Amino acid sequence: MTSPKGRFISFEGIDGSGKSTQAKRLATALERAGYDVVLTREPGGSPGAEEIRALVLQGDTDRWSAETEILLFTAARRDHMERTILPALAAGKVVICDRFADSTRMYQGLSRGDLRALVDQLHSLMIGREPDLTLLFDMDPDVSHSRAVERDSIDSRFENFGAGLQKAMRAGFLELAAGEPQRFRIIDAAREIDAIAADTLSVLKAHLA
Ligand code: ADP
Ligand code: TYD
Repeated sequence: MTSPKGRFISFEGIDGSGKSTQAKRLATALERAGYDVVLTREPGGSPGAEEIRALVLQGDTDRWSAETEILLFTAARRDHMERTILPALAAGKVVICDRFADSTRMYQGLSRGDLRALVDQLHSLMIGREPDLTLLFDMDPDVSHSRAVERDSIDSRFENFGAGLQKAMRAGFLELAAGEPQRFRIIDAAREIDAIAADTLSVLKAHLA
């Protein structure tokens, strides 16, 4: 895929860590500061990928094997890249994406055995690009889980993972961040919404400057 001139920012973290709340706040703040912003999410973000979203997030927990899920999430991501992300980057926009490939690395890569290598192979074959900057919203899974459960969404196939797996994913995200310090910034997500938003905006302004 071509190398575009905009900025590609992803938000990552376990369920209920405040990504969607902060992505909206950041998009509004950057627009006010004069940036052209596209706020998008995964799975989804293009009409075709939103259809795949319903397939992967609704229904029984055992509806798909982990391997089939990797294919479905990657198919959704490819469509999202082709139709939403790359055109926006080529037009010089700031793309804020609520979850991206690191979520597949953690959720499908860890949830049913170690499938990380498969996730990475398919990623390099079909996507081949990482965000320019990834903000990791880090917090204790016990607290974020209670937030996510209160939200009571129908897109909940993954929200009933046990506490052990949420802890493993938190550790896995931190390990990814430690391995790629250039790309990642860790945000302490266990604070008041306004404090996190201020922190997030200053990280972004430094990155965009
Ligand atoms: P995510 O997108 O990471 O799953 P959300 O932004 O949807 O997280 O937040 C999950 C729930 O927690 C929502 O009901 C949201 O209003 C609430 N929430 C978000 N950030 C905070 C915060 N800093 N403190 C308390 N509640 C929060
Ligand atoms: P979403 O509504 O974004 O959840 P949240 O607001 O809690 O982040 O739903 C996304 C769910 O899909 C979430 O539980 C994580 C999961 N997911 C994967 O398993 N693999 C992926 O590649 C992506 C992007 C998400």
